[in-house]
Amino acid sequence: MRTVVYPGSFDPLTNGHLDVIARAARLFDRVIVAVAQNGEKQPLFTPEERCTLVRGATRRLRNVETRIFDGLLVDYVRGCDAQAVIRGLRAVSDFEFEFQMALMNRKLDERVETIFMMPKDTYTFLSSRLVKEIARLGGDVRDFVPGNVRVALRKRLKE
Ligand code: PNS
Repeated sequence: MRTVVYPGSFDPLTNGHLDVIARAARLFDRVIVAVAQNGEKQPLFTPEERCTLVRGATRRLRNVETRIFDGLLVDYVRGCDAQAVIRGLRAVSDFEFEFQMALMNRKLDERVETIFMMPKDTYTFLSSRLVKEIARLGGDVRDFVPGNVRVALRKRLKE
């Protein structure tokens, strides 16, 4: 059984994340989307809400499960009996931080491999931060996030 963990803040899930999840689901027997409890300082959605949104958007992918995680990623990966971590790489600008994180995780536990996956090229400009900004300013995020996330953004920003 090949298990991989895809960690992130997912505040909120974007179509770029979803594309990476679908690609990972084709390569691995089991994909665990791990929503970081303490990823962002002031998230728009609670970890439970982010988890529910990922579950809603991935319900058709049978080998994908979504959970909240806390603490060190390498400890979580070991606890899941996973062999690797997936991270999305959109552009060279992502590389430095991702490279640092991958090597630090390897230093913490050399059994944990990091695999980088590129989302579809049309999603290279996408980020949760930009999606939130566009939604806050009344822009249309239809092309950038799954339907359930669009509804949740509209609701949250009206509250
Ligand atoms: O979506 P993000 O915000 O880029 O995800 C970053 C995340 C949550 C994957 C990263 O901050 C993380 O792994 N946090 C868990 C704590 C940890 O293990 N830190 C050391 C990383 S080298």
